[in-house]
Amino acid sequence: MEKEGLDSALNLMNRRGMIMPSAQIYGEVGGFYDYGPIGLKIKKRIEALWRRRLVEGLGNLEIETSLIAPEQVFRASGHLETFADPVSVCKKCGYSHRADKMLAEFYERRNDKAKAEAAKHANLNELKKMILDAELKCERCGAKLEDVEMFNLMLATKVGSLGSTQSYLRPETAQGTFLDFKNIFKIYGLKLPIGIGQSGKAFRNEISPRNILVRMREFSQMELEYFFDPEEKDLAINGKKVDEGVFSNEITFASTAGGGDESVVGKVSISKLMEEGHIPNKLFGYLLYQENEFMKALGFDDDAYKFVELSKDELPHYSKGNVDLEAKIGGKYEELAGTAYRTDFDLKNHETLSKEDMHVFNNDKKVMPHVVEFAMGLDRTFLALISNSLYKDDKRGWEVLRLNESITPYDFALFPLQRDDKLMDKSAEIRDALLKKGYSVFYSYTGSIGKRYARADEIGINRALTVDYDTLNDGSVTVRDMLTTSQERIKVDSLL
Ligand code: GAP
Repeated sequence: MEKEGLDSALNLMNRRGMIMPSAQIYGEVGGFYDYGPIGLKIKKRIEALWRRRLVEGLGNLEIETSLIAPEQVFRASGHLETFADPVSVCKKCGYSHRADKMLAEFYERRNDKAKAEAAKHANLNELKKMILDAELKCERCGAKLEDVEMFNLMLATKVGSLGSTQSYLRPETAQGTFLDFKNIFKIYGLKLPIGIGQSGKAFRNEISPRNILVRMREFSQMELEYFFDPEEKDLAINGKKVDEGVFSNEITFASTAGGGDESVVGKVSISKLMEEGHIPNKLFGYLLYQENEFMKALGFDDDAYKFVELSKDELPHYSKGNVDLEAKIGGKYEELAGTAYRTDFDLKNHETLSKEDMHVFNNDKKVMPHVVEFAMGLDRTFLALISNSLYKDDKRGWEVLRLNESITPYDFALFPLQRDDKLMDKSAEIRDALLKKGYSVFYSYTGSIGKRYARADEIGINRALTVDYDTLNDGSVTVRDMLTTSQERIKVDSLL
């Protein structure tokens, strides 16, 4: 079986309505996508695995906070002042371009790596000069681009009947978690370290939305904020001291910390990365270990992703150390997640601005917790997983989406062999029994059985049950294993 590329994956998503541009009949506004039934199931399964492994599996808690928050929240978090990208607006047609990315892509196409890197790290004045030197043209009307300015990415709204409270749609789920942390810590009688997870929508008014689910204006994040006492040397997770043996696990690691090109270190143990100062603390290292395990559980091949340490000038405004998790999408690495040492940046700033004491009592000591964050984009993970899991099977003559059991959109496909009332009635009875048992079922009775196998294979259903005339007599069905195409006969009762 041969792996398909991104184009085939996009084609599949489109054909099967996994994702669709939002509000399409009124002309598409870039950066907004709807999930159809199959896409949503896969997305929810990815999220469920995150919850199982990184939230509940580590003894952490999950919350859901408001999507809109007043201006002070983002003044304290630094987003109001620093959450901006350089934009070059075409003076002729008004179309906006993300200046640094456009320049980097321009020089990458010319194989000028040095200038491409320089564009990624340039300040506003340098970008202005570079855009003139490169004589970049407007993507829409072809006019010469001349200026660059900073553009804040937050979407603003006014709350209240008189619109008196300036507010913003959250650009990350994390701020709500910081604001609720102390309350939850007290009410639930917690001890540090403790992680609080949040999965939900975030909004960014991206200058140039790109690559379908890669740069969206409304997207889903799965974020885990791990609060810990920076003076505590031993690392305990879920009340148990961590076996330091986990740090001998190797991850694929590269670094841009020295500036310029990535120095690809290759496979390296987490303990070595800690010794060499690439990882700021043990909790950070432990999270990288868990993230690597999570990527495997999602079904990513080892060579499909890597961890990349960021250089100082690439760090977000709140971070004292970042390692991104990048996966191949269409042969190019894209960031799926970031692990950041946010220190006490957020809690301290909220304390200063709100005048609320954000310290907690931990082991009879007053502590301002530090935070390590694992922030993962759900849409990008979805896209990366689909595009890395789609194969062309020449023997079958169609595409096969090979998803792990925990990600497959349905537990079973269920097909009556043909449209015959007796078979349809029996199939409906089996479908209801499977649903009652808690299984999800993809039920289809139109088209030839071969076509229905193909439809199930290309959306990643691992088992298909066919109801035929023998089923009526002995309650047995044919089970087809999608991964191997092998078939066997089983009694339906054995599943119930
Ligand atoms: N709380 C930290 C934070 O938000 P981030 O690196 O800005 O960090 C985390 O975002 C993840 O969210 C990214 O790694 C990416 O997967 C996803 N993400 C960010 N912006 C996105 C966008 N415009 N469209 C889709 N996903 C996005």
